[in-house]
Amino acid sequence: MTVNSLRLEGSTALITGATGGIGRAIAHALHDRGAAVILTGRRLDVLEELARELDDRVEVVGADLASRQDLERLAGRTEVDVLVANAGLPAAGRLQTFGPRELDRALDVNVRAPMQLTLALLPQMLERGRGHLVYVSSLAGKVASGGSSVYSATKFAIRGFGYSLSEELRGTGVGVTTVYPGFIRDAGMFHESGTKLPRGIGTRTPADVANAVVEGIERNRAEIDVAPFSLSSGAKVFGVSPPVMSRITRLLGADRVSEQLETGQRDKR
Ligand SMILES: NC(=O)c1ccc[n+]([C@@H]2O[C@H](COP(=O)([O-])OP(=O)(O)OC[C@H]3O[C@@H](n4cnc5c(N)ncnc54)[C@H](OP(=O)(O)O)[C@@H]3O)[C@@H](O)[C@H]2O)c1
Repeated sequence: MTVNSLRLEGSTALITGATGGIGRAIAHALHDRGAAVILTGRRLDVLEELARELDDRVEVVGADLASRQDLERLAGRTEVDVLVANAGLPAAGRLQTFGPRELDRALDVNVRAPMQLTLALLPQMLERGRGHLVYVSSLAGKVASGGSSVYSATKFAIRGFGYSLSEELRGTGVGVTTVYPGFIRDAGMFHESGTKLPRGIGTRTPADVANAVVEGIERNRAEIDVAPFSLSSGAKVFGVSPPVMSRITRLLGADRVSEQLETGQRDKR
Protein backbone atom coordinates (compact mmCIF):
# COMPACT_ATOMS: atom_id res chain seq x y z
CA MET A 1 0.00 0.00 0.00
CA THR A 2 1.25 3.51 -0.75
CA VAL A 3 0.23 6.44 1.38
CA ASN A 4 1.94 9.73 0.55
CA SER A 5 0.86 11.84 3.45
CA LEU A 6 -0.68 11.57 6.88
CA ARG A 7 -3.66 13.56 8.10
CA LEU A 8 -2.85 15.03 11.49
CA GLU A 9 -6.43 15.54 12.61
CA GLY A 10 -7.41 12.60 14.80
CA SER A 11 -3.82 11.26 14.92
CA THR A 12 -1.74 10.82 18.06
CA ALA A 13 1.75 12.33 18.11
CA LEU A 14 4.52 11.59 20.60
CA ILE A 15 6.83 14.61 20.84
CA THR A 16 10.17 14.34 22.65
CA GLY A 17 11.87 17.46 23.94
CA ALA A 18 8.47 19.14 24.28
CA THR A 19 9.75 21.41 27.07
CA GLY A 20 12.33 23.05 24.79
CA GLY A 21 12.10 26.09 22.55
CA ILE A 22 11.45 24.12 19.37
CA GLY A 23 9.48 21.29 21.00
CA ARG A 24 6.88 23.68 22.41
CA ALA A 25 6.34 25.18 18.95
CA ILE A 26 5.98 21.71 17.42
CA ALA A 27 3.48 20.71 20.12
CA HIS A 28 1.36 23.79 19.39
CA ALA A 29 1.52 23.27 15.61
CA LEU A 30 0.50 19.59 15.69
CA HIS A 31 -2.22 20.26 18.26
CA ASP A 32 -3.55 23.16 16.15
CA ARG A 33 -3.88 20.67 13.28
CA GLY A 34 -6.13 18.48 15.41
CA ALA A 35 -3.63 15.90 16.67
CA ALA A 36 -3.67 14.52 20.20
CA VAL A 37 -0.21 15.04 21.67
CA ILE A 38 1.86 13.04 24.14
CA LEU A 39 4.48 15.45 25.48
CA THR A 40 7.73 14.23 27.01
CA GLY A 41 10.79 15.76 28.63
CA ARG A 42 12.42 15.64 32.04
CA ARG A 43 10.92 18.88 33.42
CA LEU A 44 7.42 17.91 34.50
CA ASP A 45 6.46 21.43 35.62
CA VAL A 46 7.19 22.81 32.13
CA LEU A 47 5.29 19.94 30.49
CA GLU A 48 2.30 20.57 32.72
CA GLU A 49 2.32 24.29 31.94
CA LEU A 50 2.33 23.47 28.21
CA ALA A 51 -0.48 20.96 28.73
CA ARG A 52 -2.56 23.70 30.40
CA GLU A 53 -1.95 26.00 27.41
CA LEU A 54 -3.13 23.30 24.99
CA ASP A 55 -6.05 22.36 27.25
CA ASP A 56 -7.38 19.19 25.57
CA ARG A 57 -6.04 16.19 23.61
CA VAL A 58 -2.86 16.27 25.64
CA GLU A 59 -0.96 13.88 27.89
CA VAL A 60 2.26 14.47 29.77
CA VAL A 61 4.91 11.78 30.34
CA GLY A 62 8.06 12.68 32.27
CA ALA A 63 11.05 10.72 30.94
CA ASP A 64 14.82 10.97 30.89
CA LEU A 65 15.88 9.67 27.47
CA ALA A 66 19.31 8.78 28.82
CA SER A 67 17.63 6.32 31.22
CA ARG A 68 17.00 2.90 29.66
CA GLN A 69 14.04 2.30 31.99
CA ASP A 70 12.33 5.58 31.07
CA LEU A 71 12.97 4.95 27.39
CA GLU A 72 11.42 1.47 27.57
CA ARG A 73 8.35 2.96 29.29
CA LEU A 74 7.89 5.46 26.45
CA ALA A 75 8.61 2.85 23.81
CA GLY A 76 5.76 0.73 25.20
CA ARG A 77 3.09 3.20 23.98
CA THR A 78 0.74 1.53 21.56
CA GLU A 79 -1.31 4.34 20.06
CA VAL A 80 1.34 6.50 18.40
CA ASP A 81 0.75 7.49 14.75
CA VAL A 82 3.47 10.15 14.64
CA LEU A 83 6.83 10.22 16.42
CA VAL A 84 8.63 13.55 16.55
CA ALA A 85 12.14 12.81 17.86
CA ASN A 86 13.12 16.35 18.70
CA ALA A 87 14.89 16.12 22.09
CA GLY A 88 18.55 16.91 21.87
CA LEU A 89 21.59 18.09 23.78
CA PRO A 90 23.72 20.81 22.21
CA ALA A 91 26.93 18.83 23.02
CA ALA A 92 28.94 21.83 21.85
CA GLY A 93 32.67 22.20 22.36
CA ARG A 94 36.01 20.61 21.56
CA LEU A 95 36.17 16.87 22.18
CA GLN A 96 38.78 17.10 24.93
CA THR A 97 36.42 19.23 27.05
CA PHE A 98 33.97 16.28 27.38
CA GLY A 99 33.92 13.73 30.14
CA PRO A 100 33.04 10.10 29.24
CA ARG A 101 29.57 10.43 30.83
CA GLU A 102 28.82 13.61 28.91
CA LEU A 103 29.77 11.87 25.69
CA ASP A 104 27.52 8.90 26.51
CA ARG A 105 24.60 11.20 27.38
CA ALA A 106 24.90 13.03 24.05
CA LEU A 107 24.88 9.72 22.16
CA ASP A 108 22.00 8.35 24.27
CA VAL A 109 19.71 11.36 23.91
CA ASN A 110 20.57 12.46 20.37
CA VAL A 111 20.99 9.09 18.67
CA ARG A 112 20.11 6.03 20.73
CA ALA A 113 16.73 7.31 21.95
CA PRO A 114 15.35 8.23 18.49
CA MET A 115 16.52 4.89 17.08
CA GLN A 116 15.13 2.79 19.95
CA LEU A 117 11.80 4.67 19.93
CA THR A 118 11.54 4.10 16.19
CA LEU A 119 12.32 0.40 16.56
CA ALA A 120 9.61 0.04 19.21
CA LEU A 121 6.89 2.16 17.58
CA LEU A 122 7.35 1.16 13.95
CA PRO A 123 5.68 -2.32 14.04
CA GLN A 124 2.32 -0.86 15.12
CA MET A 125 2.53 1.80 12.39
CA LEU A 126 3.34 -0.85 9.77
CA GLU A 127 0.47 -2.99 10.99
CA ARG A 128 -1.93 -0.06 10.59
CA GLY A 129 -0.28 0.88 7.26
CA ARG A 130 -0.15 4.43 8.54
CA GLY A 131 2.32 6.56 10.44
CA HIS A 132 5.07 9.15 10.26
CA LEU A 133 8.52 9.45 11.83
CA VAL A 134 10.10 12.88 12.20
CA TYR A 135 13.72 13.48 13.26
CA VAL A 136 15.02 16.90 14.22
CA SER A 137 18.63 16.92 13.08
CA SER A 138 20.52 20.18 12.39
CA LEU A 139 22.53 21.82 9.63
CA ALA A 140 25.39 20.55 11.84
CA GLY A 141 24.26 17.16 10.49
CA LYS A 142 25.25 18.31 7.01
CA VAL A 143 28.23 20.59 7.74
CA ALA A 144 30.95 19.73 10.26
CA SER A 145 32.96 22.61 11.65
CA GLY A 146 35.57 22.72 14.42
CA GLY A 147 34.34 22.62 18.01
CA SER A 148 31.26 20.51 17.32
CA SER A 149 32.59 17.00 16.72
CA VAL A 150 30.23 15.32 19.21
CA TYR A 151 27.12 17.30 18.22
CA SER A 152 27.84 16.93 14.51
CA ALA A 153 28.47 13.20 14.88
CA THR A 154 25.03 12.76 16.47
CA LYS A 155 23.26 14.92 13.89
CA PHE A 156 25.04 13.27 10.91
CA ALA A 157 24.00 9.92 12.41
CA ILE A 158 20.36 10.99 12.49
CA ARG A 159 20.62 12.18 8.89
CA GLY A 160 21.82 8.75 7.75
CA PHE A 161 19.24 6.95 9.88
CA GLY A 162 16.30 9.09 8.70
CA TYR A 163 17.17 9.07 5.02
CA SER A 164 17.88 5.36 4.89
CA LEU A 165 14.59 4.64 6.69
CA SER A 166 12.65 6.86 4.27
CA GLU A 167 13.88 4.60 1.45
CA GLU A 168 13.37 1.41 3.46
CA LEU A 169 9.75 2.27 4.27
CA ARG A 170 8.66 3.40 0.80
CA GLY A 171 5.25 2.01 -0.06
CA THR A 172 4.46 0.90 3.51
CA GLY A 173 2.24 3.87 4.47
CA VAL A 174 4.81 5.05 7.01
CA GLY A 175 6.59 8.25 6.01
CA VAL A 176 9.87 9.69 7.30
CA THR A 177 11.01 13.30 7.51
CA THR A 178 14.32 14.67 8.76
CA VAL A 179 14.37 18.38 9.53
CA TYR A 180 17.58 20.46 9.48
CA PRO A 181 17.33 23.72 11.41
CA GLY A 182 20.10 26.29 11.12
CA PHE A 183 20.41 28.94 13.86
CA ILE A 184 17.03 29.38 15.59
CA ARG A 185 16.25 32.68 17.31
CA ASP A 186 13.78 33.66 20.10
CA ALA A 187 13.87 30.34 22.03
CA GLY A 188 15.83 27.11 22.26
CA MET A 189 19.44 26.08 22.74
CA PHE A 190 21.08 28.55 20.36
CA HIS A 191 19.05 31.51 21.61
CA GLU A 192 19.71 30.62 25.27
CA SER A 193 23.48 30.41 24.65
CA GLY A 194 23.59 34.15 23.96
CA THR A 195 25.86 33.53 20.95
CA LYS A 196 26.31 36.48 18.57
CA LEU A 197 26.47 35.55 14.90
CA PRO A 198 28.68 37.34 12.38
CA ARG A 199 26.83 40.01 10.43
CA GLY A 200 24.80 38.64 7.52
CA ILE A 201 24.17 35.17 9.00
CA GLY A 202 20.39 34.81 9.15
CA THR A 203 18.19 32.91 11.58
CA ARG A 204 14.78 31.22 11.62
CA THR A 205 12.17 30.83 14.38
CA PRO A 206 10.84 27.82 16.34
CA ALA A 207 7.54 28.30 14.47
CA ASP A 208 9.42 27.87 11.16
CA VAL A 209 10.76 24.52 12.40
CA ALA A 210 7.27 23.50 13.54
CA ASN A 211 5.83 24.42 10.12
CA ALA A 212 8.50 22.28 8.47
CA VAL A 213 7.51 19.35 10.71
CA VAL A 214 3.86 19.77 9.68
CA GLU A 215 4.82 20.05 6.00
CA GLY A 216 7.06 16.99 6.26
CA ILE A 217 4.20 14.93 7.71
CA GLU A 218 1.43 16.25 5.46
CA ARG A 219 3.47 16.10 2.23
CA ASN A 220 5.73 13.20 3.20
CA ARG A 221 8.97 15.03 2.46
CA ALA A 222 12.18 13.17 3.30
CA GLU A 223 14.35 16.19 4.16
CA ILE A 224 13.63 19.85 4.90
CA ASP A 225 16.16 22.59 5.75
CA VAL A 226 14.95 25.39 8.01
CA ALA A 227 17.58 28.01 7.31
CA PRO A 228 18.23 30.97 5.04
CA PHE A 229 19.30 30.20 1.47
CA SER A 230 22.93 31.16 2.21
CA LEU A 231 23.25 28.54 4.99
CA SER A 232 21.45 25.72 3.21
CA SER A 233 23.46 26.32 0.04
CA GLY A 234 26.61 26.26 2.21
CA ALA A 235 25.51 22.79 3.33
CA LYS A 236 25.27 21.73 -0.32
CA VAL A 237 28.79 23.05 -0.99
CA PHE A 238 30.07 21.08 2.04
CA GLY A 239 28.47 17.96 0.54
CA VAL A 240 30.55 18.43 -2.60
CA SER A 241 33.79 19.77 -1.08
CA PRO A 242 34.24 19.94 2.71
CA PRO A 243 37.63 21.75 2.50
CA VAL A 244 36.21 24.56 0.35
CA MET A 245 33.28 25.10 2.71
CA SER A 246 35.53 24.90 5.79
CA ARG A 247 37.71 27.68 4.39
CA ILE A 248 34.62 29.84 3.80
CA THR A 249 33.14 29.21 7.27
CA ARG A 250 36.51 29.96 8.93
CA LEU A 251 36.69 33.26 7.05
CA LEU A 252 33.13 34.05 8.17
CA GLY A 253 34.11 33.58 11.83
CA ALA A 254 33.01 29.98 12.58
CA ASP A 255 35.70 29.60 15.26
CA ARG A 256 34.34 32.53 17.30
CA VAL A 257 30.80 31.13 17.04
CA SER A 258 32.03 27.69 18.22
CA GLU A 259 33.82 29.22 21.21
CA GLN A 260 30.67 31.10 22.28
CA LEU A 261 28.55 27.95 21.90
CA GLU A 262 31.04 25.90 23.96
CA THR A 263 30.71 28.39 26.82
CA GLY A 264 27.02 29.24 26.44
CA GLN A 265 25.80 25.63 26.18
CA ARG A 266 28.07 24.03 28.78
CA ASP A 267 25.21 23.75 31.29
CA LYS A 268 23.18 21.54 28.91
CA ARG A 269 25.65 18.64 28.69
N1 LIG B 1 17.90 25.88 18.62
C1 LIG B 1 18.61 25.73 17.52
O1 LIG B 1 19.18 26.73 16.99
C2 LIG B 1 18.71 24.38 16.85
C3 LIG B 1 19.37 24.30 15.61
C4 LIG B 1 19.49 23.07 15.00
C5 LIG B 1 18.95 21.94 15.57
N2 LIG B 1 18.33 22.03 16.77
C6 LIG B 1 17.78 20.80 17.35
O2 LIG B 1 16.44 21.01 17.71
C7 LIG B 1 16.07 20.16 18.80
C8 LIG B 1 15.39 20.99 19.88
O3 LIG B 1 16.31 21.96 20.33
P1 LIG B 1 15.90 23.28 21.14
O4 LIG B 1 16.57 24.43 20.50
O5 LIG B 1 14.43 23.31 21.37
O6 LIG B 1 16.71 23.00 22.49
P2 LIG B 1 16.27 23.15 24.03
O7 LIG B 1 15.39 24.32 24.21
O8 LIG B 1 17.54 23.04 24.79
O9 LIG B 1 15.40 21.84 24.23
C9 LIG B 1 15.99 20.56 24.28
C10 LIG B 1 14.92 19.56 24.63
O10 LIG B 1 15.53 18.27 24.74
C11 LIG B 1 15.10 17.70 25.97
N3 LIG B 1 16.12 16.85 26.57
C12 LIG B 1 17.43 17.13 26.77
N4 LIG B 1 18.01 16.14 27.44
C13 LIG B 1 17.05 15.22 27.69
C14 LIG B 1 17.02 13.97 28.36
N5 LIG B 1 18.11 13.44 28.96
N6 LIG B 1 15.85 13.29 28.43
C15 LIG B 1 14.73 13.80 27.87
N7 LIG B 1 14.69 14.98 27.20
C16 LIG B 1 15.84 15.67 27.13
C17 LIG B 1 14.84 18.88 26.89
O11 LIG B 1 13.88 18.51 27.86
P3 LIG B 1 14.13 18.52 29.46
O12 LIG B 1 15.19 19.53 29.75
O13 LIG B 1 12.78 18.84 30.03
O14 LIG B 1 14.54 17.15 29.72
C18 LIG B 1 14.24 19.89 25.94
O15 LIG B 1 12.87 19.68 25.81
C19 LIG B 1 17.37 19.48 19.25
O16 LIG B 1 17.45 18.18 18.73
C20 LIG B 1 18.45 20.36 18.64
O17 LIG B 1 19.66 19.66 18.43
C21 LIG B 1 18.20 23.23 17.44
